[in-house]
Amino acid sequence: MQIEYHRFSPADVDDLVAFLTGEEWPFHAGVQEAAAIRRRAAEGFYDDADNRTFWVVADGERGGLIRLYDLGDDTPMFDLRVRRAWRGRGLGTAALAWLTAHLFTEFPDVTRVEGTTRADNRAMRAVFRSNGYAKEAHYRESWPAPDGTRHDAVGYAILRHDWASGTITLPDWHDEPR
Ligand SMILES: CC(C)(COP(=O)(O)OP(=O)(O)OC[C@H]1O[C@@H](n2cnc3c(N)ncnc32)[C@H](O)[C@@H]1OP(=O)(O)O)[C@@H](O)C(=O)NCCC(=O)NCCS
Repeated sequence: MQIEYHRFSPADVDDLVAFLTGEEWPFHAGVQEAAAIRRRAAEGFYDDADNRTFWVVADGERGGLIRLYDLGDDTPMFDLRVRRAWRGRGLGTAALAWLTAHLFTEFPDVTRVEGTTRADNRAMRAVFRSNGYAKEAHYRESWPAPDGTRHDAVGYAILRHDWASGTITLPDWHDEPR
């Protein structure tokens, strides 16, 4: 499979609306309305000094979307989505590797990259692990689902020097003062 990353441009907004509203995203809160997506796009939510969005193009088809945000910060974050038809073929794993390298190479002040997901999102957790991200947070009952269930959420991050050296420095979980 050939994977390319194409930067979102304002001319893509119809495709963006189709992508985000064309199927359900069970691990994302709420349903996105087309009008809200268009309004946000016009406001720079997908591309401005603080945000960049890329299509994940697999064998010529837009199979996924990456949105990078908080780009002025030393710890930017991201939203990664792979369309149902493309899941389970390595696209998510490749996209996280690409976006991590993009952030560390394009933004010299970035020291770490962070991501949060619902604790039962096993695929995303596998994607984090296989890219050298370490789990560093567990937020109990912090993720309300539309049916009223409260899920746990988990936070992963990768440090610039770990990324550069290919190591994983784990947090010290036994640091409670006595
Ligand atoms: C999470 C997501 C990005 C993963 O992308 P993907 O292209 O399907 O992932 P990959 O094909 O690279 O698979 C990654 C790993 O997840 C595993 N996996 C895939 N689907 C799975 C599932 N339903 N349950 C458990 N593991 C799963 C794969 O076996 C693989 O594990 P491995 O590396 O140990 O072999 C994608 O499923 C997605 O967009 N889901 C909906 C949106 C979402 O949850 N985004 C993340 C929000 S933070």
